[in-house]
Formats: sequence, C-alpha cells, structure tokens
Amino acid sequence: MVARGQTILSSVVASQLGTHFPYGGVVPELASREHLRAIVPVVRLALERAGKRLEELAAVAVTAGPGLAGSLLVGTTYAKALCFAKGLPLVAVNHLEGHIHAVVLEARRAGRPIEYPALALVVSGGHTHLFEYAEGPRYRLLGRTRDDAAGEAYDKVAKLLGFGYPGGPVIDRLAAFGDPEAVPFTLARMKGNPLDFSFSGLKTAVLRWVEARDLGAEIAARRALLARTPKPSLEEWLAVTPQATLDLLASFQRTVIEELLRRVSSAAEQIGARSIILSGGVASNRGLREEAMRRPLPCPVFFPSPELATDNAAMIAAAAWPKLERGETADFSLKAEANLKLA
Ligand code: KG4
Ligand code: ZN
Repeated sequence: MVARGQTILSSVVASQLGTHFPYGGVVPELASREHLRAIVPVVRLALERAGKRLEELAAVAVTAGPGLAGSLLVGTTYAKALCFAKGLPLVAVNHLEGHIHAVVLEARRAGRPIEYPALALVVSGGHTHLFEYAEGPRYRLLGRTRDDAAGEAYDKVAKLLGFGYPGGPVIDRLAAFGDPEAVPFTLARMKGNPLDFSFSGLKTAVLRWVEARDLGAEIAARRALLARTPKPSLEEWLAVTPQATLDLLASFQRTVIEELLRRVSSAAEQIGARSIILSGGVASNRGLREEAMRRPLPCPVFFPSPELATDNAAMIAAAAWPKLERGETADFSLKAEANLKLA
C-alpha cells in the first residue's frame, strides 16, 4: 500500500517459489491457483499492516498485463470486486511501468528525483526492454529482446547446471568467486535495431560448454543438495561447485552485464537521457550494479532496492498515483491482457 506522496505504508509479497521450485520454472496453472489462494489474505494483511480499512483507500490499483493470463485474471477480477463493493476507483497499471516506478518512488524518497527524459531498462524473467521515458508520461520502445529475457537466461543456465530456480540470485553470488575472463563468450551482434537484445546464443554457448565436459557428478551433487535444503548457504553451494564452473558462471554473468550496459549506454546517449533507470528482478544483480557504478555512463544511474526490484505490489501502487491524479481510472470492462504493451 502506497500513500499519496509515495510513502510505502505496507508491502506484502506472497512468494510462490516453493510451489514452482521443483519444476525449475513457473507453471502457469499452479501460479493462478496460488494467486487465488493468496490474494484475500495478502490484501487483508497489507491493510492491517498499514492500519487502514478498505473504505479509506483512494483507489485500488491492479496489474492489467503483461503476464500470465490466469494470474492476471485473478488480480483484475478481485480488484474489480473490491472497487464495486466499496465504490472505489480502479486504476489499471502495466507491469513494466510498475517496475520503472519502483525506482521513481525510491529516487523521490531519497530526495534525488529522476530527471527526464530518462532511459529505462526493464530486465526481468519475462522482459528485457529499453524505453525512453519522458514526462507526460510518454514511453517509447527503443529495443527489446528478440528471444530470451536476461532473467530467463539466468534461470535456464541455473536449471541446466543443477542450481534450481530462480537462477539469478545464486549465479550472482557464485559469480563473485570465478574469473569473468575465463570463458570468452561472444557478444550478440544484432542485425536491424542495434538496441535489440538476444540471449539465446549465449545460452547455447553455455550448453555447449557443459556438453563438452563431464559434469554429471557435480550437477547430481547440487541437485542432491537442493533436495536436502531448498535454500543452500553460500558455503554449501561452493562445496559442490568446482572452480571451472565458478569461472563459467562469472563469464556468463559478465557477458550478460556487457550486453545490457553497452545498449543502455548507447541508448542513453542517443536520446540525451538525464537519468538511467535500471529496473526489474535482474536489476538486483550485484555485478550489474557494481559495473554500472564503475563505468562512465552519460548520466546518473538509479536502481531499485532489492525488495522493490523483484515483483511486488508497492510498485504497482506507485505507478497508479499519477494516473489517479490525471483521472485515468478504469471501468469494470477492464480486461487482463497477457501481451499488454507499454509502448
Ligand atoms: O521482475 P521479476 O521478479 O519477475 C518478472 O517480472 O519476471 O524478475 C524475476 C527474474 C528471474 O528470472 C530471476 O532469476 C531474476 O529476476 N533475478 C536475478 C537476480 N535476482 C532475481 N537475475 C540476476 N541476478 C540477480 N541477483
Ligand atoms: Zn516483474
């Protein structure tokens, strides 16, 4: 729950990781079932923590897309029901705009507001999109992945190597122990729009690297570790990950960061950006944050805090406030759209 002026009054996240973990990725049917189960208690808890009653809210904001159709339907249906019952305005928010607003909110709270135009990268399990974000707001799509999203590449590499799901956080931690120059992965060269991304070649290069070695025993050891402890410690991971694999992870991560930052840099220059916003689950990557701070980028870079980087409802409420103030409310004909575009 987010107050006018963008103070977070409460933020409740129901994690489904335990549900999807055994499958190495999100299972859509299970996701909608879990949403259905969680939505009432989560809303109740968010109200309780904020010390508010439903009647006191200014509006209810909901993600209208993009995302998994079943999960979106649960959210939009429940939000409409709440608004109908209590006579509250309904505000529809694009999930990507939510990720961007997690950063906008924190920048404002830190007394260092975003300056426009901004270059916004949304980099998550489902998206790797570059937008020009100008006041208005106006969003213009500058580039996007043509195949896998960066987070998806992390998740697939992790699955292949027996690191479980999601892959980003564990690879990020282990990459710090490897040599990022050890495996010379080539960068994707894009025909057409040079600001588009591609991660499928890198993913295949990792697969070839694995196939060329006999990693059966170490992968089995990691799977056994995960079966014993769903959340292994860093020491436990290091005990079942030889140096060559740490080097592979570091090289993979370095390549992903390079792919992201080189396009961020040239896009920021191209649009004359005054701020750079890195958002979405992958924006919590430590390697990415360090490199973005180290490298000479054309303007200041903003990141979300780790809690607001991955999916949460505070970012949706934050994105909803300016819409509500502009009178952009939705009616009960609102439809969830799996492929909703921001621009
Ligand atoms: O934004 P998000 O919570 O959900 C989507 O909208 O997709 O992002 C989840 C993605 C997953 O692919 C996960 O592996 C990745 O973000 N991720 C990371 C890190 N933390 C989460 N990727 C790289 N490094 C991290 N530290
Ligand atoms: Zn997301």
